Amino acid sequence: MPQIEDTTRNYRLDPDSFAGGYFRNAVYRHWDPYEDIPQSMLEADRSRLRGDDIDQAEFESLRRTLALFGAGEEAVTEDLTPLLQVTSDVDRELFLTSQLYEEAKHTQFFDRYWREVIDPVARDRGFEVTNPTDQRYFSEDYVALFEKTATAMERLLSEDSPTNRARAYCHYHLIVESVLAQTGYYGLQSTFSPTGADRTGENHIDLDGLIEGITRVRSDEGRHVGFGMHEVQRLIGEEEVDPGVVQSTLTELLGHVVGILQAGEELEEPAVSNEALTKYATEKTSRRIEIITDAAAELPPVDELVRIEGGREDTSA
Ligand SMILES: [Fe+2]
Ligand SMILES: [Fe+2]
Repeated sequence: MPQIEDTTRNYRLDPDSFAGGYFRNAVYRHWDPYEDIPQSMLEADRSRLRGDDIDQAEFESLRRTLALFGAGEEAVTEDLTPLLQVTSDVDRELFLTSQLYEEAKHTQFFDRYWREVIDPVARDRGFEVTNPTDQRYFSEDYVALFEKTATAMERLLSEDSPTNRARAYCHYHLIVESVLAQTGYYGLQSTFSPTGADRTGENHIDLDGLIEGITRVRSDEGRHVGFGMHEVQRLIGEEEVDPGVVQSTLTELLGHVVGILQAGEELEEPAVSNEALTKYATEKTSRRIEIITDAAAELPPVDELVRIEGGREDTSA
């Protein structure tokens, strides 16, 4: 119900609240997937991908990863609304609207990159031109994880409870946005950014346009994940949600993440192996569980969560 008249507060918003601070940060850091990723950067990416530094298998691997990201961003854009509908605190509502808008922009960025870089390069090099929606890209584990996430979010509309909210945050904010997406970014940045964490020897090329877009997406995701972690920690600490439910949900879903990471055909000399990605995802999940199940553990401030240093390991908790 809209609070036109409301005797419980003076001002409409509480800018000093946790969610109020996150919303201000989101507005301040606004970016445009078209204006802020200049055409010249995408042109440079196209010309590097047209050259000999990347072979067909490497191009296919990049294309598959981008198909998964594009589908993932579209799915989370569609799946957030139930949480927004059941949230009644206005500062949290404002933050979630910014998150919804940002997921839509992430979808737009990956769509643009496919149209303006992937397809023209595939045509020029004589590779098959494929659609980012082609079912070949989506493994059983990928489909299962996103179906479960959609179900966990929709459940809030019929059975809203602290435990179901914690489950929803575990699916959406902690596994999909945090573990799966951040592991994917780690792989991409290791391969295509000059400052990638595992950058080694010859097996990389610089894709500045891709990394520019992904760095901005990651920065937004740092804020989203921070919000989700804060909320799960609060649900355990203040609403008596059983930490065992959080732990078992995350562990179950990690199995799908591992399945997704291992479904990709391994390159002969990958910048980062499927095994290293799996280790990264598993460690990230354990760290998330430690922090959110410890009421005394402090999350870094939002300014720190959104700071991404040149594609290096993220600074988020
Ligand atoms: Fe996103
Ligand atoms: Fe997100």
